[in-house]
Amino acid sequence: MTTVDLPPASVWPPDLSAYCFEVPHSDRSLLFESGKGIRLTDAAGRSFLDAMSGVFVTCFGYDCEPIMQAVTDQLRTLPFNPPLHGTNRAALELARGLVELAPPGITAAKLVNGGSESVEAAVRLARLYHRAHGNPDRVKVLSYYHGYHGATFGSLSLTGRPDVARFGPGLPGVVHVWPPDCLETFWDVSPERSGALAAAMIERTIEAEGPESVAALVMEPVIHLRGMAIPPADYLARVREVCDRHGVLLVFDEIVTGFGRTGQPFAAQTFGVTPDILCVGKGISGGFAPLAAVLMADRLAEVLREAGGPPSFAPSHTYAANPMSAAAGLAAVTLFRQDGYLDRIRALAGHLEPRLRGVVGGRGTVRALGLLYGVKLAGGDGVGDQVAAACQRRGLILRGQDDWVVLAPAFVTTTGEADQILALLGEALDEVCGDGR
Ligand SMILES: Cc1ncc(COP(=O)(O)O)c(C=O)c1O
Repeated sequence: MTTVDLPPASVWPPDLSAYCFEVPHSDRSLLFESGKGIRLTDAAGRSFLDAMSGVFVTCFGYDCEPIMQAVTDQLRTLPFNPPLHGTNRAALELARGLVELAPPGITAAKLVNGGSESVEAAVRLARLYHRAHGNPDRVKVLSYYHGYHGATFGSLSLTGRPDVARFGPGLPGVVHVWPPDCLETFWDVSPERSGALAAAMIERTIEAEGPESVAALVMEPVIHLRGMAIPPADYLARVREVCDRHGVLLVFDEIVTGFGRTGQPFAAQTFGVTPDILCVGKGISGGFAPLAAVLMADRLAEVLREAGGPPSFAPSHTYAANPMSAAAGLAAVTLFRQDGYLDRIRALAGHLEPRLRGVVGGRGTVRALGLLYGVKLAGGDGVGDQVAAACQRRGLILRGQDDWVVLAPAFVTTTGEADQILALLGEALDEVCGDGR
């Protein structure tokens, strides 16, 4: 394997870089030029294997012909429609396609432009639901410490990470609760006990806040920014019971775990627990247009129907359900369903998981769920970023932070590419963590 150098400064057009705050975040930031399959090429002509699907997005690769064709056709027929006066066929068919993928009981979808918007829409929907049922005081929202839900103010308020405090006070009425993984890490609670304890703590929190004031609990079934923290087996079912006991709506933020990642259409099916509201985004357009959705149980859809349909959700977003995004999403969902992607995901996961465990060896703990991987590394905070940097020098893109790295390979990754990813990761681990196999 060849090791590549950090990008030379000359790759960045100095006259353009000064205008844009997207990048560079750091001296490692790349200027991407093109993508094919799961490979990216940068402005210096170097090739990178993308083991992150962009960021859980490009599940079908960077050059998926059926999606590109659908988007091109849509562009030529109807690139936009007046959203105050109607919608488009692709949006209607996409909503039905998403509902058909979802667990039974989920019956409708609202399309939006991104994950943060979908989380915000979930909160609005939860509040509307309680108001329609004579409980206008149910406005509080519970979410995890150390969860991530987006960058708009409402979703940022639900994000329970210490690093968002610099933006000042968030949405009033947000109450944070501890997930099992944090109980294990910060208080040495055993994995056998952490699920029951975390669910009991959520219940005590609802009681302490006053159940009549709580609208919803919003959570990631698997917490990405804790290094893919997978909950104990019975935990989500316990949480479902707690919510039901207290009339609190359960919202799964499946923006990372949704659309096949866990080996089922949604983590809800993987864990056998159906939420009232399910947020989905990232991969549902394959990365060919900004798109996300809020899927809802029938009792929530009923509230919107009775309140006069979509207008009751207004104000909506100008680009919500726009034809270009809807066409990309419809093509991605159609491809996913027709081409047996769940089987492909499970087969690739069956190839990757044991080999990843072999490569990591004693240097960390592997968390695996479908094509979602986290490696908690021995060696303390900072080691995740070092491993990610060592991977990038070798032409491999994954995410690393604190004491973890995560991988989310595209569904179209070949076993040969999977082996290359593992070989490069192994070299990077050797460099940073030593040969601890
Ligand atoms: C779990 C989760 N929720 C919400 C979001 C926000 O999505 P977006 O960046 O599309 O607004 C993200 C983005 O990374 C996410 O990982």
